Formats: sequence, structure tokens, C-alpha cells
Amino acid sequence: MSVLYGPFRQILTMGGIPIRGPLPDSRLDIRTDAGVMVEDGVITDVGTYRDLKPRAEYVVETEGMQVLVPGLVDSHTHICYAGDRFADYSMKLSGASYEDILREGGGIRHTVRETRKATDDTLRNLTRSRIAHANRQGVTTIESKSGYGLDVETELRQLRILRELGAIPTCLAAHVMPEGEADMAAYLKMLRLELFPKLKENGVRRVDLFWDAVAFHGDAAVSYLEAARLSGFDVTLHADQFSRGGTRVAVRVGAVSADHLEVISNDDIDLLGRSGTAATALPGACIGLGMPYPPARKLLDEGCPLVIGSDWNPGSAPNGHLLMQASVMAMAQKLTSAETWAAVTVRAASVLGLTDRGSLEPGKRADMVAFPVSDVRAILHAQGSIAPSAVWIAGASA
Ligand code: NIG
Ligand code: FE
Repeated sequence: MSVLYGPFRQILTMGGIPIRGPLPDSRLDIRTDAGVMVEDGVITDVGTYRDLKPRAEYVVETEGMQVLVPGLVDSHTHICYAGDRFADYSMKLSGASYEDILREGGGIRHTVRETRKATDDTLRNLTRSRIAHANRQGVTTIESKSGYGLDVETELRQLRILRELGAIPTCLAAHVMPEGEADMAAYLKMLRLELFPKLKENGVRRVDLFWDAVAFHGDAAVSYLEAARLSGFDVTLHADQFSRGGTRVAVRVGAVSADHLEVISNDDIDLLGRSGTAATALPGACIGLGMPYPPARKLLDEGCPLVIGSDWNPGSAPNGHLLMQASVMAMAQKLTSAETWAAVTVRAASVLGLTDRGSLEPGKRADMVAFPVSDVRAILHAQGSIAPSAVWIAGASA
């Protein structure tokens, strides 16, 4: 059945946007007084509402002035966990550093203890409510890492729950070393032998590693990433967040993306710009930790595909509001509106290997977000404070 959604005062399609480099706002395709025709959850046409209407078998009629944009894609989160990190947050407000808390057995390791203790039902309900929260903000595709299990059983529990709830699961068993273990090479070898073979049968196609002085580094970590690539996984890294080195490794192992990049060097920006690895900025972690933003402007100017994720997690990035974070960082880094929208839609879909979404064009999934404004510029101008009026995933109300 042909279903028409509209009329919308404006539709921002994000059609025809290249994956790499700077984008002037003139690249934005904005249709006025338009509608979207959808069949079986897939877009068949975007055009003038009046022209489309005679062909529609059913109309989802929108009231008043609204703007439609593609569903947002959050390509980097950690939302499958139990417990909270309120105590850490207060300590950080009082001056403690993220790394100190982690070294002393708190931080990620605290969330690991809470997550291991939680039942599947608890973990599923907590994760489901976080996905619903993201949906309400206009996020229609969400990736989430595991990494709060640090043993085969709990990592798999997290990944299965994420997949069951429709999130894109990424294995981050190499998040930090589990408590009581000292041998990094032995832990990573155990993951390769015991966890890797079980990932594919559970629908996991992506492997991540936190490269840092307080997490994983050195030859064993490189071998782990190379083994993941050889086994056919897409690899991503938490790189250059607190200490340098991760970006070089990401490029060397052919990672799809290097994420964080707060402390990246100019040489590594250059290297990344010439590589096939995307740059993912996570302003939510900068806001959460009070750190400077990564050099997003420079990364784009060097030709990188710039993606923005929320990094939503209980520790470094508790805020979890992608559009707010993207619009706030855009002003600090002077990203154009086109670059900002691309970073949370079509370019974000691309690092997840998803070619069926990210823009409103024929053949794409009808993931759409309506905002109660009459000019698309009002959305970034409000820096996340205008909530969507409707969110559809594959044409169904979310
Ligand atoms: O992306 N940097 C490492 N991992 C996460 C933090 C996870 C946590 O603190 O629980 C991040 O910032
Ligand atoms: Fe992260």
C-alpha cells in the first residue's frame, strides 16, 4: 500500500551528500511543501505533496508547520549496563580525573560488577528504556557496545540483548582489563579463541578496542585487531582520547572508524585524512568530562568523513542527547549545518556499513523525524531543545 506522509513545510533529504570532507550548506537538498511516499517501510518518492497525493492509497496527514529530516544514526554508544556512576560524577566535579577513578578500580570496573550481577530481564529492560529515550529524540538507528562484561558469558549476554532490541551490536570485550587479571596478551588471546567464534552466530559484525595507556596497547592489542579483521569483522577503535597512538593503529589495521580523537596530533590528522578510516567525534564525552572537543574542523578539512556519536554511557558521557551535543560542538568547531547533519545521518550510517538509511531518498528505509518548526535551521539553532513531534522507523511510529 502506498502511504503518503505530509504535508511538510520543508523536507531535508540529505540526498547526494558525499561521504568525505567539507560541505557548504548549498549542498543541502531542501524540498518545500513536500511529502514522502512509502511502501512496505521503504521510501518510493519524495516530492511536492500536491503532486503525490493523487497516487496515495493512505495519507498520514501532518498538522501545522513541520519539518522532516532523516532519522538520526547514533553510531557509538554504551547503553547496555546496570547500576549507576553518580559517585564518580561527584568525584569528577570535585576534581578527580577519569583515569584516576579507573586506576583505583572504579569507573568502568564498577559498571562491570553491576552488569555481571544483573539478570537478563533487568539488563533488557534498562537497555530498552534507553533505546526508547533515544528514539524520542529522533535517533532511529543506535549502535551499542558491550564492554561491561569482560568475560565471555556477560559480553555475549549484552550483545544478544542489544541485537534482540534492534540495536547494532559491537563487541568491546577489549574495553579495560578485567579486575584481578594482569596479562593483557593472555586475556586478548582468550577472547580470540573463546569469544570470536561465538560473535558471528549471534549477529555481531563489529569489534572495538579501547586503545589507551589505561586500557589496551602494544603488540598484543594490534594482533587482536588484526585477528578480528582476518575473521571478517569491521574494526573500530577508541583512539586518542587521553593518550596518543590509537589513530595510527586504526589506520594500520584498516579500521572503519577511529573514535574520540580529543588529543590527536597534527601528523595523525593528516594520516587519517589520507586513509579509509572515518573520524568519529564524541562531544558527549567532552561535555561529560570537561575536556576540549576533538579538532573536528581540521579533520574535515583534511578530507576525513566526520561522524558524530553520543558515546552515551554512565561514566564519561552520561548526557545521551546526540542532537544537542552535535549542535553545541558545531558552534565551537565551526562545522556547517550540512556537515553537522551529515555527521549524524548519512555519514554515521556509512561507518555502520548501512546503505539503506541516512537520507530520505527512494529505496531508503522510511526512518523519518518531524520537528514542530517551519524552517530546518531552527533545529540546530535551538541546540537540541526542540523535541521531535513524530518519529517513524521503517514508516511505523516509534
Ligand atoms: O567511550 N573510553 C572508554 N570508554 C567509554 C567510557 C565508558 C565508561 O566510562 O563506562 C568512552 O568514553
Ligand atoms: Fe565510547
